[in-house]
Amino acid sequence: MTNRVQIFDTTLRDGEQSPGATMTLKEKLEIATLLDEMGVDIIEAGFPIASEGDFEAVSKISAQTQNAVICGLSRANIADIDRCWDAVKHAKRPRIHTFIGTSPLHREFQVKLDKEAMAEKIHATVSHARNLCDNVQWSPMDATRTEDDYLARVCEIAIKAGATTINIPDTVGYTAPRESADIIRMLLERVPGMDEIVIATHCHNDLGMATANSLAAVEAGARQIECTINGLGERAGNTALEEVVMAMKVRHDIMPYDTGVDTRKIMAISRRVASVSGFAVQYNKAIVGKNAFAHESGIHQDGMLKHAGTFEIMSPEDVGLTESNLVMGKHSGRAALRSKLEALGFQLGDNQLNDVFVRFKALADRKKEIYDEDLLAMMADSTTSA
Ligand code: KIV
Ligand code: ZN
Repeated sequence: MTNRVQIFDTTLRDGEQSPGATMTLKEKLEIATLLDEMGVDIIEAGFPIASEGDFEAVSKISAQTQNAVICGLSRANIADIDRCWDAVKHAKRPRIHTFIGTSPLHREFQVKLDKEAMAEKIHATVSHARNLCDNVQWSPMDATRTEDDYLARVCEIAIKAGATTINIPDTVGYTAPRESADIIRMLLERVPGMDEIVIATHCHNDLGMATANSLAAVEAGARQIECTINGLGERAGNTALEEVVMAMKVRHDIMPYDTGVDTRKIMAISRRVASVSGFAVQYNKAIVGKNAFAHESGIHQDGMLKHAGTFEIMSPEDVGLTESNLVMGKHSGRAALRSKLEALGFQLGDNQLNDVFVRFKALADRKKEIYDEDLLAMMADSTTSA
């Protein structure tokens, strides 16, 4: 089995389903360009039957995209699948993604079909999609709460009907890493042909385990991770692209999987998605948060000045930043203050530094963060009063 893991970005479909995250056509086209330039393998551009706007966005993204496969979502019915095909057929490399909820709750309350009727529907809809397009992804929605026997059975039906990728969604973020891996292993063991198609993992973050669950699925044999920039998505969001990609890069020693993503483009796209979706990134968000490469405490700053490896496991340049940020605050020590002042053009002897340090601490007790301007004002003051 290859170690190449395909990155399927669904920021423009599942990400946009976040209440309040709607993007304009222009914004979607821009994000799709950034995703393509960054090297994601598949872009899920939208849900063409959902609205005229979605149809137009998927069609235009299909027409403009140079490298990535362009995928559209469709429910398990002919009208949805035809509409999806009409939008993605303009792509150099189109894909139809069709899904149906297979868990007992979804069968009974949402789709209102018994097991037999659902099995027939899956066969009919996947066959229809495959007649239109040679790249077809099928998802048993709420797979992680579907009975093993039934899940194995419907995956087999979808493969026989022509699905080339089978996606296993943890729709409500309910699974845990060991179970996420067990489901993939169970399917590989029980479903004929499962090792000949691509297995995808699609996790939601309701219990904060989406990244761990996605990586566990990869270790068990999944070779496509579905994710979004900044983890944007319904409720607590989807697996964050930047987290899974950087985890496999930084811990390649224990997760020897490769992606085609140019990680130096992560920060720029993260900021753009935050801005167009209106969803600010939390300060302490892994990889892309404002504080992900920031250090305030004296011990950490001292370590960082001696060797960045003391308190950083990846370099800021790897995600598109120019440098780490030594934030000046009440926890900062002399070493960081000296280095910051040197960067601002002040060379201080030890006595002078001691004096400035006392005044700096007094200021830091009054202010949460000390900016360069505060230090410049403090130094101007100390020169005048000296
Ligand atoms: O979470 C989910 O189950 C989905 C499917 C449509 C794949 O987003
Ligand atoms: Zn989803």
